[in-house]
Amino acid sequence: MRCESKIIVALDFPAADAALNLAAQIDPSRCRLKVGKELFTRAGPALVESLQRLGFDIFLDLKYHDIPNTVAAACRAAADLGVWMVNVHALGGQRMMAAAAEALAGVSQPPLLIAVTILTSMDDAELSLIGLQPPAAARVQALAELAAAAGVAGVVCSPKEITLLRQHLPDHFLLVTPGIRPLWSASDDQKRIKTPAAAIRDGSNYLVIGRPITAADNPMSALELIEAEIAAAPSTSE
Ligand code: C5P
Repeated sequence: MRCESKIIVALDFPAADAALNLAAQIDPSRCRLKVGKELFTRAGPALVESLQRLGFDIFLDLKYHDIPNTVAAACRAAADLGVWMVNVHALGGQRMMAAAAEALAGVSQPPLLIAVTILTSMDDAELSLIGLQPPAAARVQALAELAAAAGVAGVVCSPKEITLLRQHLPDHFLLVTPGIRPLWSASDDQKRIKTPAAAIRDGSNYLVIGRPITAADNPMSALELIEAEIAAAPSTSE
C-alpha cells in the first residue's frame, strides 16, 4: 500500500540501531522517513534498504551540489537505491539541476527531485559574505523559480516562505517544510516555526518533523496527534 502521509519523520540519529528502533515504533503507512548526512555517512545504503524493507518511503537528504555530471550520476544511484525523494542544492545552478532532472526522467519509478534554496541557517550578513545579495527571501524565490524551470519538482523551504513561494510558483510545485512544531511540543533550536496545521493551510505539501516525534515517549502517539491536527486543518494543497 502506497503511503499518502504528508509527514516525513527526520531520523537524526548517529547510528543505525537507534534509527531502526524508532522505525519499529511507527507505522510505514502513516509517515515517510528522512535519512540525512550523519546517518547515511555512518550507516549507508544498507540502512536505507532495511528501512525500505520495513515498508517506509525514504527521503534521502544528501543535498547534492557538484558539477552536473556528478550530480546526475548521484541521483541515478539514489534512484537505483529505490528512494522516494532526493535533493540537490539550487546554488549548483540551472544546468546542474536540469542534469539531475534529466537523469531521473530516464528511470522507471524515479524519486521526487527537490532542491534546497538558501539554508535557513544563513542570515543576510552571511549571504553578503558569499556574494549573494540580501534579502534572503528574494534569493529563495529566485532559486525556487530557477529550480522549477530546470524541471525540479519542488523545494525545501522554511514555513515562513510558504506563502511567498505559493504566490510565485505553479500549484503543482512541491513545498517541503521543516521547522514544524505542534503547540504541545518544545521548539528546541528551531526559531522560525509553524504548527503542522498552519503549514498545511498555507500550502506546504510535506512536513519534515524530527524531535516532536523521535524524542516523544510514544512516537506513534505523537504522530497520531499531529495527523489529527492536520486533518482538522483546511488544506490548500494535494
Ligand atoms: O527535530 P526537528 O523537527 O527540528 O528536525 C528538522 C529536520 O529538518 C532536521 O533533519 C533538520 O536538519 C532539517 N532541516 C531544518 N531546517 C532546514 C533544512 C532542514 O530543520 N532549513
